[in-house]
Amino acid sequence: MTGQTLEAAERLLADLPPTAAVWCSGLRKRYGRRTAVDGVSFTVDRGEVMGLLGPNGAGKTTVIKMLLGLVRPDAGDVLLLGRPATDPRARARVGYLPELFRYQPWLTAAEVLTLHVRLAGLDVAAGERRECLGLVGLADRAGDRVGGFSKGMQQRLGLAVALVARPEFVILDEPTSALDPIGRADVRDLLLSLKERQVAVLLNSHLIGEVERVCDRVVILDKGRVAAAGSLPELLGQSEVRLRLADVSAAAEQRLAAAGELTRDGDTFTVALPADSGSDTVPTLVADLVGLGVRVHAVEPGRISLEERLLGILRAGREGDPT
Ligand SMILES: Nc1ncnc2c1ncn2[C@@H]1O[C@H](COP(=O)(O)OP(=O)(O)OP(=O)(O)O)[C@@H](O)[C@H]1O
Ligand SMILES: [Mg+2]
Repeated sequence: MTGQTLEAAERLLADLPPTAAVWCSGLRKRYGRRTAVDGVSFTVDRGEVMGLLGPNGAGKTTVIKMLLGLVRPDAGDVLLLGRPATDPRARARVGYLPELFRYQPWLTAAEVLTLHVRLAGLDVAAGERRECLGLVGLADRAGDRVGGFSKGMQQRLGLAVALVARPEFVILDEPTSALDPIGRADVRDLLLSLKERQVAVLLNSHLIGEVERVCDRVVILDKGRVAAAGSLPELLGQSEVRLRLADVSAAAEQRLAAAGELTRDGDTFTVALPADSGSDTVPTLVADLVGLGVRVHAVEPGRISLEERLLGILRAGREGDPT
């Protein structure tokens, strides 16, 4: 290639949009006769915090391990920071907090960080490593052996390991399961500061309130498949109406269910309104209910929380499914 064409090629590459933090398509994995992951595709963009949600056994950890090249997919493709997941150049720029881990119990917290920096092939000064331990609240335990650490302290150290090598993309598999409330709030601040620095994050957590506070987008896995995905406004934009009612006949209940997904708690009926419902949906519903002999005690608008939305999606997936 001549110098001129090389220059042109470089210009062309520089003009391309930056590659996603991770892109995966059609990921599939079986363990024996059990399908753990069944055709999962999604993207995490640079600077984006993505939540990965789903019940126990949904395949979240398996997906994460495939993204990192730690589990070989039966089918599908992964690009990690624009490179194959097995490329050490991509891996060195990714921070990972595994779901289950144990560090060498005879090492001190500071030594664990030194080891991981060396494994990443980087040069991170001692001051910066200390700062990283401070960030996760372990500043005064730097010289203690991790064998004597509590569960939450081990998880904090895991976070420090994931962050110490200045990653461009951080994957956290349940980072706060063992943390106390202050630790959880610290992690939330930490995630927001990563976002400010344009570091992409994939966060798997069962603490849905946490995900709702920090994530830009969410992927919900169920039984190895993507059950729903989108930005929080896309997923939660749907509003709901709560009605306290008496004398509800079967016909009235049918009318309620026709307005949207219906849940009942005693005399309180909650209808999740479809995104395309107009401003007269609720007045018309109330008029129809009155016409059907229902006594309407209260009508309250509401917005669905991510937790309610998640439960709705998972329950809908189980309807008519004996497993
Ligand atoms: N190494 C393995 N060998 C056999 N089966 C496995 C293995 N790893 C995962 N599985 C199975 O794959 C399915 C998905 O497991 P995975 O750990 O990905 O779920 P998860 O969504 O991370 O769940 P949790 O919320 O409990 O962490 C489960 O049925 C699990 O038993
Ligand atoms: Mg898991």
